[in-house]
Amino acid sequence: MTKTVLTGIKPTGTPHLGNLLGAIRPALRLAEDPELRALYFIADYHALTTVHDRRELRRLTLEVAATWLACGLSPERTLLYRQSDVPEIFELTWILTCFTPKGWMNKAHAYKAKAADNAAAGAPDLDAGIAMGLFSYPVLMAADILLFEADLVPVGEDQKQHIEIARDIAQRINHHYGARLLTLPSALIDDGTAVIPGRDGRKMSKSYDNTIPLFAAPGALRKLVNAIVTDSSPPGAPKDPASSAVFKIFEQFAPREATDELRRRYLEGISWGDAKAALLEALEPQLAGPRERYQALIAEPQRLDELLAAGRDRARALARPVMERLREAIGIAG
Ligand code: ADP
Ligand code: TRP
Repeated sequence: MTKTVLTGIKPTGTPHLGNLLGAIRPALRLAEDPELRALYFIADYHALTTVHDRRELRRLTLEVAATWLACGLSPERTLLYRQSDVPEIFELTWILTCFTPKGWMNKAHAYKAKAADNAAAGAPDLDAGIAMGLFSYPVLMAADILLFEADLVPVGEDQKQHIEIARDIAQRINHHYGARLLTLPSALIDDGTAVIPGRDGRKMSKSYDNTIPLFAAPGALRKLVNAIVTDSSPPGAPKDPASSAVFKIFEQFAPREATDELRRRYLEGISWGDAKAALLEALEPQLAGPRERYQALIAEPQRLDELLAAGRDRARALARPVMERLREAIGIAG
């Protein structure tokens, strides 16, 4: 039987090379599997936990939509929609909230980390500065997943706990009403995905302000690549590929033989300038096509809105019968 694979992408920053390698490419590969039905959505109401500027939220939402399309998502094959366009998600959120022990939320990692920061800072109130949206974030995420009867949820390791919470809530509801009302989801974690280093050598992340945006113009891309930190070894001195961010990014984009060749040149003492030029040469042909498509898409926000509206209609058509079944089961309608 066809399985449903679903994932949400939070529009909280301009997509970068790490997002491409760690999330976009693996998800697009899954979407091509004929045994799977793929549903990918933009989790804009999750982003509202941190993005409180209306223009910024709108801009980032469109950027994320355009990024997926530019990287090859086919909207006929993969259902692409915006979370906020599907009101059934929020109705389900409330039902799930009524079956979620508060203690589970106390243990959710994002909340725990904030409370621990408060404790470390000696704050008298451990909940200082923590909004209910952050606290109950995992319940909204469970609704995203359970509404569409997802079997598989591709996510990074940090999201694993959230999928487990979704599963546990579904199990509680099924158990309580004595029926298989909700599908139990499983996390799909790709352990093979390398962590792409950023310009400072740490994990590339918008939180560290060290990213290389996917669609930087060629001139800007060159500047960003030139800004990747290196050690101070001079040209001619052998260099260690394993500890070089330039090399680690290169090997994710270049074919095997080119990587072997660059490794050899490192050992022979390639200059950092030449190593960076090699990286640019590997990146440019892979990014040029998507960049062009991205620029065309982002220049036509109306067209993106139309695409998302079509996704909304298809998503709601899937959601309605699930909600009807649930309402009926809990005694709200019918
Ligand atoms: P950021 O760290 O920039 O805030 P997100 O947490 O929004 O990025 O990441 C979205 C997805 O992109 C994650 O699920 C993760 O799989 C992937 N990702 C982000 N940064 C990297 C990276 N440096 N290397 C590999 N994958 C990454
Ligand atoms: N919380 C996820 C993140 O921070 C985004 C997300 C929201 C999600 N809803 C989801 C992921 C449902 C998978 C399924 O990356």
